[in-house]
Amino acid sequence: MVQHYLAQPVGHVAGSITVPGDKSISHRALMLGGMAHGNTDITGFLASEDCLATLRALRALGVHIDQHDANHLTVHGRGPSALHGAGQALDMGNAGTAIRLFMGLLSGQSFDSTLIGDSSLMKRPMERVAGPLRQMGARIDTRDGRPPVIIHGDSRLHGIDYTLPMASAQVKSALLLAALSAEGVTRVTEPAITRDHTERMLGGFGVQLQREGLSVALPGRQPLQGVPVQVPGDFSSAAFFIVAGCLAAQDGLTIRNVGINPTRTGLLDMLRLMGADLRVTPAGEGPEPIADITVRAAALRGIEVPEPLVSLAIDEFPVFFIAAAAAEGETVVHGAAELRVKESDRLAVMAEGLRALGIECELLADGMRIRGGRMGGGRINSHGDHRIAMAFAVASTRASDAIHIDDVTNVATSFPGFPAIARSVGLRL
Ligand code: S3P
Repeated sequence: MVQHYLAQPVGHVAGSITVPGDKSISHRALMLGGMAHGNTDITGFLASEDCLATLRALRALGVHIDQHDANHLTVHGRGPSALHGAGQALDMGNAGTAIRLFMGLLSGQSFDSTLIGDSSLMKRPMERVAGPLRQMGARIDTRDGRPPVIIHGDSRLHGIDYTLPMASAQVKSALLLAALSAEGVTRVTEPAITRDHTERMLGGFGVQLQREGLSVALPGRQPLQGVPVQVPGDFSSAAFFIVAGCLAAQDGLTIRNVGINPTRTGLLDMLRLMGADLRVTPAGEGPEPIADITVRAAALRGIEVPEPLVSLAIDEFPVFFIAAAAAEGETVVHGAAELRVKESDRLAVMAEGLRALGIECELLADGMRIRGGRMGGGRINSHGDHRIAMAFAVASTRASDAIHIDDVTNVATSFPGFPAIARSVGLRL
């Protein structure tokens, strides 16, 4: 059933909330746990459709996983050689992270695998991963560069020295996972810093890797040892409430227990440049730093987004564009062409939606120019993209009329329970 939101205008949000666990970390905890020896106890797991696709795939590959409750799992790892062929295509649903990381994980296995997904995932580019994996010795077929991805087993992988042509944590992570079963050292260099959860977590599982600037080198054939993983709240889910707070939390809004890995928090820097009132209070250290974030409404002004921040805020642009639409003056983003190959073409889909609300914007090849102004109501097609749907729900803090948001079913891929949390701070969904 395709669902929709009707977001009535509200002028005020407030409260103290937590958001569900981090999606990127939840996928990685399951996968590393499945390759490790011994138990990996995962707390704060994100029980969203994307992460459940990873969980189901690992079970189909022979990994025993106990689910104690929605957010607490134990992965009983028996090492990578205990995996077996699934006997059927592995369905990754909407999850780009799952399909790309599994490509790396499975390309060094002894059995064949086929990876498929939903209609959005079946259109997304996979050669960015398949190409370098072939250089490592993997045998992989894609259909015109897209899924289904067929991975032929019994390939002997060897390390390579690879410079990514685009800033992508998924590609980097896929190569690091493949490197675990490769002969020799694999070195990956990225053009800009991307999220480093894989590197941090591999270290926690006992893998030796050297990080130097934009490069990471991993000597192959290393065993992983299961460890407990505590998943922090997802910064990318908190982002919707951070922006809602900037626009309408006159008395403050706090999001507690949020992961603030510096490779994820570019949005905070961008909002601060716009004049946002944000307070970040450390709430825990571990492999991943955690904080409570308090935000108060402030008058925002348009900015030119510094390009080094783009890869540190890559998933936050839909809701950042809402902040830009509510700011005074013009905001310009360049260097963000990757947004065109996310769950939707997020530049085109956001431009279409902003225009529907009466906001002037110009679509650029690698970004967007937005003139802040008065937002009206209107009808938005999210094109099945979870972050587009939630971003326009946040626009209701400034819109003068109701916003109808179509095709919101996929919000459950990353943020189960979003409507209830949104209502608890005052949104009228
Ligand atoms: C992710 C990496 C990013 C991001 C995605 C999650 C990850 O994708 O957009 O939501 O968990 O590694 P890219 O690697 O395609 O930039």
